[in-house]
Amino acid sequence: MKILILGASSYLGARIFFDLKEKYDVIGTYSTLQLTKSFLQLDVTKKDDINELIKKIRPQVIIHAANNANPRWCATHPKEALLLNQTATEFIASSVAKFNSKIIYLSSIVAYDSNTVYSQTKVKSENIITNSTDNYVHLRPAFVLGYSPNTTNDRPFNRLLKNIDEKVPAVYDTSWVTPMGYIGLITAIIKEILNKDLKKLIIPIFTEEKRSRFQMAKDILKHFNIEVTPVDKQDNSMSVAFPNVSQHLKKLNLPYIGYEDMVAKIIQEIKDRKKFVL
Ligand SMILES: NC(=O)c1ccc[n+]([C@@H]2O[C@H](COP(=O)([O-])OP(=O)(O)OC[C@H]3O[C@@H](n4cnc5c(N)ncnc54)[C@H](OP(=O)(O)O)[C@@H]3O)[C@@H](O)[C@H]2O)c1
Repeated sequence: MKILILGASSYLGARIFFDLKEKYDVIGTYSTLQLTKSFLQLDVTKKDDINELIKKIRPQVIIHAANNANPRWCATHPKEALLLNQTATEFIASSVAKFNSKIIYLSSIVAYDSNTVYSQTKVKSENIITNSTDNYVHLRPAFVLGYSPNTTNDRPFNRLLKNIDEKVPAVYDTSWVTPMGYIGLITAIIKEILNKDLKKLIIPIFTEEKRSRFQMAKDILKHFNIEVTPVDKQDNSMSVAFPNVSQHLKKLNLPYIGYEDMVAKIIQEIKDRKKFVL
């Protein structure tokens, strides 16, 4: 099975690439950061380039992770956010339909609450894909944590690594409370989607427990003897209701990992980090 990961150099894309490469023929694309030599350059805002690449590779599956996942950037750059996170989805969806691929779209938990520019681009992208093919799965992870071969992007987990490796002071917010997503569970679920050829699904991937950034950082960093200082940033948490994730995943015969297990796995991944070579 040939799998094309768009945005394979991203924090999530790089870990998905790493986890799938043993078993599948995986091809990755990057825009500016060529994380490994085999990755092919692709700007997803260029319709003809997407078409050309998909026509050449003819992947059975496309995993789309090439978005800007920073809600603040999206709010301050609405035009650019729309182009990258939504218009590019139209281009990708039309190629997917043309060449009959399956598409696994990295959506987000924010799709449950379409109040921001970022969340609106995610909801609209899901709709664009849903309206163009039946062979889709939308993944809705939250606040993703866990080791990725991309350790440089400014993502929450990579900030924890900086606290450990560069002794950057660990000061974390107590106000914003959120479910969290384990990166290893995302790939475990992708493997099940591929094995069972699942389609026409929206899959939430996050813990039922909610934690603040402060609590999460404390739970992980204490294992590396890093002290965490609380700060109240008076950030509003999402107030929408989320589905019961463990039940939802159980119904689909998919694995679920709760908060405590996620933390244990992440601590082990940090200790074993040398194995994550692309
Ligand atoms: N991280 C999370 O907590 C989280 C949670 C829920 C959902 N998600 C979703 O998961 C996906 C990946 O997120 P992430 O956090 O891993 O992102 P990230 O590390 O910030 O990476 C963003 C990616 O977008 C690519 N990109 C930017 N402009 C591009 C363009 N014009 N053409 C092609 N690629 C372009 C970048 O490529 P280069 O680096 O090569 O320039 C990079 O690979 C996103 O769809 C995000 O919404 C993430």
